Amino acid sequence: MAALLAGAGVTALSGTAEGAASTLASAAAGKGRYFGAAVAAQHLGEAPYVATLDTEFNSVTPENEMKWDALESTRGSFTFGAADRIVDHARSRGMQVRGHTLVWHSQLPGWVGGLGASDLRSAMNHHITQVMQHYKGKAAAWDVVNEAFQDGGSGARRSSPFQDKLGNGFIEEAFRTARAADPAAKLCYNDYNTDGVNAKSNAVYAMVRDFKARGVPIDCVGFQSHFNSASPVPADYRANLQRFADLGVDVQITELDIEGSGSAQATAYATVVNACLAVSRCTGITVWGVTDKYSWRSSGTPLLFDANYAKKPAYTAVLSALGGSDGGGGGGGSAGCTVSYRTTAEWNEGYNGQVTVTAGSTAITGWSVPVTVTPPQRVSATWNGTPSWDTGGNVMTMRSSHNGSLPAGGSTSFGFTVMKNGTGGAPSLGACTAS
Ligand code: G3I
Repeated sequence: MAALLAGAGVTALSGTAEGAASTLASAAAGKGRYFGAAVAAQHLGEAPYVATLDTEFNSVTPENEMKWDALESTRGSFTFGAADRIVDHARSRGMQVRGHTLVWHSQLPGWVGGLGASDLRSAMNHHITQVMQHYKGKAAAWDVVNEAFQDGGSGARRSSPFQDKLGNGFIEEAFRTARAADPAAKLCYNDYNTDGVNAKSNAVYAMVRDFKARGVPIDCVGFQSHFNSASPVPADYRANLQRFADLGVDVQITELDIEGSGSAQATAYATVVNACLAVSRCTGITVWGVTDKYSWRSSGTPLLFDANYAKKPAYTAVLSALGGSDGGGGGGGSAGCTVSYRTTAEWNEGYNGQVTVTAGSTAITGWSVPVTVTPPQRVSATWNGTPSWDTGGNVMTMRSSHNGSLPAGGSTSFGFTVMKNGTGGAPSLGACTAS
């Protein structure tokens, strides 16, 4: 069993005796959300980077590797290597993937800007189709169009080759093409400085409302949420998320980072997490990097782990806002139980998952573990446990059956079959609760 747990493809999630989750991912899962990080392929060889990623997060956004210049720097020739490394890493550990980003004015190779309108239209649609088909069943959501609106009070579209040559219609064309390329992926519009109610967010809101009214396929809106003292968390952050959710889309916090340190930073992070938790359609939070060391604005130390991967006060504030606890440094060893997941078989229509439950430093007499699959995935069979289901049918709580009594450090496992119904991705586990 130890050898199994040491193998690749294992995500460890732990809980205390009371069941409080001890990682960002497990605490967020307990609230029905994911907790993700932007990841750069060049750091995947750094052990503490990977250990922090694998322990704390259950969703991944490639920071630069899926941008147009990275994937199609030469027209028609696609280089997926670096992005594939991130996606493979994430999927083998049961993390979901947010694709970022298909159509954006920045990190756009020069050849795109040189095209005439009809050529540009076909290049855009080809790019979307090729990239999404490559990651079909592997990316849960895509930022289909990124940052298409201007800052300031105009509410106007930002100038870009797409806007300037194809007009306003490029956005809906991109979404329609994306839906056709991977009908199961969630399609998001993503932007910054749209976090509160202002002219820019009003313009995005009007676009989303219009898309919903006319049946243009859009599933979610991403709020980047890059904050600092000049651009703090807006007082109407939650209300703004809620008004978008009320249009019938999910909302996601997609690139969260908050410059600062200590308790001020911690408080701001907690405000963001609490806002997401207060909006039922806020499905998850992604922070824009794992460690301050590699942040795009490293000098502002905006993330949850410092340059040495130590947890910052902001980390503790986020974990606690999510209802988790890292034990507060108290001694006495770890009671309760921990869980780890691996996919033991996968085929076109489904996969088998296995969860190993390990008792902490004291014996336990029973355990339960929430397992969430992404709709329309469905669990079709289970073994070595007693399942119960939430009303939506995609959250299963598995309780011990004959295998509840474990000595300190002892393990057992349960398993299940999931029918993909067109959507890939491994399940996410909540914290293990022992009795
Ligand atoms: O990899 C090259 C390296 O080989 C070269 O020596 C070096 C020299 O400048 O550049 C390196 O590439 C840099 C790349 O990050 C990887 O580190 C680019 O110059 C740099 O421009 C790029 O910055 C990225 C930025 O987007 C570009 O717009 C940041 O990492 C990335 O965090 C940031 O992410 C954006 C989101 O995609 C959209 N929302 C805003 C967010 C923050 O700006």
